[in-house]
This record gives sequence, C-alpha cells and structure tokens, in this order.
Amino acid sequence: MKENSTFSTLKTEDHMPGVRVITISRPQALNALNTTVLSELNHALRSAAEDSGVRVVVLTGEGPKSFIAGADILEMKDKSPQEAMRFAQLGHDVGKLLELMPKPTIAAVNGFALGGGCEMAMACDFIVAAENAVFAQPEVGLGIIPGFGGTLRLARLVGIARAKELIFSGRRIQAGEAREIGLVARVLPQEGFLAQALEIATLISKNSAPAVAKCKQLMNEFSESVGLNGKLDAEVHAFGRLFGSQDQREGMGAFAEKRKPSFWGIAPNSASAG
Ligand code: CAA
Repeated sequence: MKENSTFSTLKTEDHMPGVRVITISRPQALNALNTTVLSELNHALRSAAEDSGVRVVVLTGEGPKSFIAGADILEMKDKSPQEAMRFAQLGHDVGKLLELMPKPTIAAVNGFALGGGCEMAMACDFIVAAENAVFAQPEVGLGIIPGFGGTLRLARLVGIARAKELIFSGRRIQAGEAREIGLVARVLPQEGFLAQALEIATLISKNSAPAVAKCKQLMNEFSESVGLNGKLDAEVHAFGRLFGSQDQREGMGAFAEKRKPSFWGIAPNSASAG
C-alpha cells in the first residue's frame, strides 16, 4: 500500500494491483463536502483517470460513522443563488468524473451517506455498503433540493416512485433497505469493511481494463446517461434559485443553531392548468 496524498481534506492510497482509494478526511464535520473537498476531489479524480497505473477507484469516508454527511450546510447557508449554482456545478463536475471516467468507480459507504453524500455515492458505478450505512436525501428539510445529481440519479437507480417517496420525505434508510430497492449492490459486514470492498475492487482490476471500460461506457449509455448534462443543468439552476428564500434561510439556520426548522414558504403553483 502506497500513500500519495498532497491534499488537505483527502487521503489517497494505492493498493496493488491498480486500486486507488480516495478517502474524504474531514471527520470533525462527518466528511461534509465543502468547496475545498470538492476541488480536491476533482483534482484527485482527474489524476486517477490519467494515471495508467490506476485501474479502479474506490471512494470512501474517514472513520466508521460517516461516508459523507452531505454538502457543508454551514458553508452553504449564506450563499447567494449565483454562489449556490457555482457550488452545485462543482459537485456536478465531481459526479460526472465519477460516472463518466473510463475506469470503474466504487463507493464504499461506511455510516452516513446523506444529501450530497448519497449523491456522490450514486455517481459511482456501484455502491458497496457497510451494515451501518444510512442513506437519505434530506434536502427538503433544509428548504432546498438535492443539488449534486440526486433528482436524476436516485430515480434512475430505484425508479421514479421510490425516488419521489425518498426525496419528498427525506426519510433515512438502512443498508438492507437500500440493497432491496437497488440503491446498493452489496452489503458487507462492518468489521473489516474496507478490506472487503478492496477485494471486490481487486477482482475487477485483474480483468481487462479496456473491456471493463467498454462495458461501463455501453451500460451508461443504456441507462440513459446520454442527455445527462442538460438534465443536471436544470437541477443546478433549480438548486441555486432556492438560495435566499425564507425556507432555505430557516432550514439551514436551524441546522446551524441545532434546532428544528419551522417552514413558512408557499410552494409555487407551477402545476396549475394553463
Ligand atoms: N454540513 C456541515 N457540518 C456538518 C454536516 C453538514 N452536512 N453534517 C454534520 N456536520 C457537523 C456538525 O455541525 C457537527 O459539528 P460540531 O461538532 O462542530 O457541532 C459535527 O459534524 C458532528 O455532527 P452532529 O453533532 O450533528 O452528529 P450527530 O451524530 O448528532 O448527527 C447527522 C449526525 C445525522 C449526520 C447530523 O450531523 C446531520 O443531520 N447532518 C446534516 C445532514 C444533512 O442534512 N445533509 C444534507 C446537506 S444538504 C446537501 O447535501 C445539498 C446537496 O444536495 C448538494
């Protein structure tokens, strides 16, 4: 195992043969995604994509409690709509690298994968989860919407009705339910979790890299990642437009003040027959 990190919020390690592990390391904030983490992830993923020695990428979070507890609410809470759009775009850039790079990407989910954390996991080719993994898209409880691809990728993975139920309610689900609905490929025991995830990555890394890359490309096309850009752009704009609203300020302010939010906002009546 070779450690080769030059990042402040990530650790990168190479496991033979050709498995690069990228670990988000902000345990004091449960590995929440701020601008620095997203920029460093972008850099680390580009470098893994270009490195001919890397055949598989594993994304995980430091510590047993959390994979990623979402986008950083404390950083987001005072953003203007334009700043929020730029932030969502940063998240989308990372998601697209995970989804579209010609090497398999595996999310090894330990503990919380909430909001942007669940979205980064879904951007990977598949998710392996520890028994203690917990998934949710809790954004509507903060007065915003999923902003890193969740409205598209969750529906694609679990079907539109299940995705709506999860996104509208913000309900948390455990690893077993996540596997049942197709969000998670495999659930592994918590003890020795990363080592077991690495065994799966190693198995893949021993196969023909061009053959695996071609499977990835075809399967992405079959699952309608064609048109991904336009659909994700719509999410970026919708995400940004909610910043500065009464509900966004209340939702994120309540998180910062460690209290329950009280929402007043009135939903726009965009469904009314014209
Ligand atoms: N952003 C910023 N800080 C966070 C965070 C986040 N998403 N999640 C956790 N933290 C911080 C907490 O503020 C806390 O910091 P302090 O010790 O300095 O107070 C620390 O991490 C530990 O968190 P808790 O004390 O809350 O730990 P807990 O075990 O009681 O609860 C939790 C854990 C259920 C994950 C809870 O922290 C939580 O609900 N976090 C927010 C989850 C969330 O709503 N994520 C979605 C964010 S929005 C998003 O992701 C938008 C998008 O699509 C792009």
